[in-house]
Amino acid sequence: YPDQRELVTVKGRNIKRVAHGVAIDARTARNGHMGGVLWFTGLSGAGKSTIAMAVEQALFVRGYQTYVLDGDNVRHGLNSNLGFSPEDRAENIRRIGEVAALFADAGMIAITAFISPYRADRQRAREAAKGAFHEIYVEADVATCESRDPKGLYKKARAGEIAEFTGVSAPYEPPEAAELVVDTNKLSVADSVRKVLDYIERHIALK
Ligand code: PPS
Repeated sequence: YPDQRELVTVKGRNIKRVAHGVAIDARTARNGHMGGVLWFTGLSGAGKSTIAMAVEQALFVRGYQTYVLDGDNVRHGLNSNLGFSPEDRAENIRRIGEVAALFADAGMIAITAFISPYRADRQRAREAAKGAFHEIYVEADVATCESRDPKGLYKKARAGEIAEFTGVSAPYEPPEAAELVVDTNKLSVADSVRKVLDYIERHIALK
């Protein structure tokens, strides 16, 4: 077995990093593609989950190692103790940024579908993924999302039944330099999925 005792003290605390016996290149060679984080951001109802799940399915069928981390799903488990204050959203995104980076380190393509409304939180997630981060802005304006309102949340927010609802009573800071913009005001779901898959083939895929 390789020596796994590369012990480095982290930030002055008594926590030591242990080196893996499996090199990232070995994982890449076996999977046929690099690991990475596809970070979807956008308003509720913009299409993040729909596009993310369709991309995951298409990649899986093609033999990619991939998994979607979705806001609604993760808030049932890992982040079930968090609400929607700016502090809780920051912690939500901090945890997911770290988890997604671990998936990427394991050689997988992690696809995250969180509103992630604050630039600073997304920047921190980018730094956690160390260069393997691809920000995908699923763009749709509030009027478009509100006309879709698939979960009836905009209606509730307008009626004052949901506090701090993004786009209505809480801010959304759009990306300034996303790697990819998918404008769902104009594009169909199928065309949006195709655009993301095309990006992956050009920037992540070795298959
Ligand atoms: S965040 O901002 O990134 O921490 O949010 P996220 O973890 O993606 O969770 C968003 C989903 O939670 C539901 N929901 C709300 N969204 C925004 N604001 C408020 N106040 C709120 N309350 C509940 C909503 O279903 C979001 O799902 P999506 O898929 O984005 O519509």
